[in-house]
Amino acid sequence: MKKRLIAYFSRADENYFQGDLKYVEVGNTEIVARKLQAITGADLLPIRMKAPYSSSYKECVEQARKDFDTHARPELIDLPENLRDYTVIYLGFPNYCGTVPMPVLTFLESFDFSGKKIRPFCTHEGGGMGTSETDIMQSGLGAILEMGVAIVGSQAEECDELLKSWVDSFYHHQE
Ligand SMILES: Cc1cc2nc3c(=O)[nH]c(=O)nc-3n(C[C@H](O)[C@H](O)[C@H](O)COP(=O)(O)O)c2cc1C
Repeated sequence: MKKRLIAYFSRADENYFQGDLKYVEVGNTEIVARKLQAITGADLLPIRMKAPYSSSYKECVEQARKDFDTHARPELIDLPENLRDYTVIYLGFPNYCGTVPMPVLTFLESFDFSGKKIRPFCTHEGGGMGTSETDIMQSGLGAILEMGVAIVGSQAEECDELLKSWVDSFYHHQE
């Protein structure tokens, strides 16, 4: 049985929504990840930092920018022992500084991705995927990168149709 995993990084708390700072209970990427789970039935794995970024948006931007500048690999918690059972990994993340958040690189460097398919989905506020696909390939060694999808974070609640057609596209390609 080919098992599929949705691994995602997301941050709740304070974030920008159409020009205003607002507190949210569930981050944008997590909203998308849950929708994807409902569509695919895949297992869900949150990528959690040992020392999470601040709930303050401003502080979070400073911390994330510092991690980006220093090529940091922040420590993660609650990772599975391996990803042996999974052949397809949907990898979700917000665009931070034009690419994936550094904890996502920690995740990618923690496992053997040989022969596994990575399908990236990203939420953003205008930057799209940025350079995330190149960076995923450099850290997720051996992975086969498949077509990704970029969703505007503040529109995460309205992405059902886009997600469905993205997921469907993989089945049409295989026929
Ligand atoms: C630290 C930080 C850096 C960000 N950098 C970018 C960026 O470079 N480009 C962009 O389009 N959006 C950027 N954003 C906006 C997020 O990608 C967007 O709000 C995303 O949906 C947040 O996802 P989350 O709620 O799952 O954490 C940034 C947000 C944060 C907090």
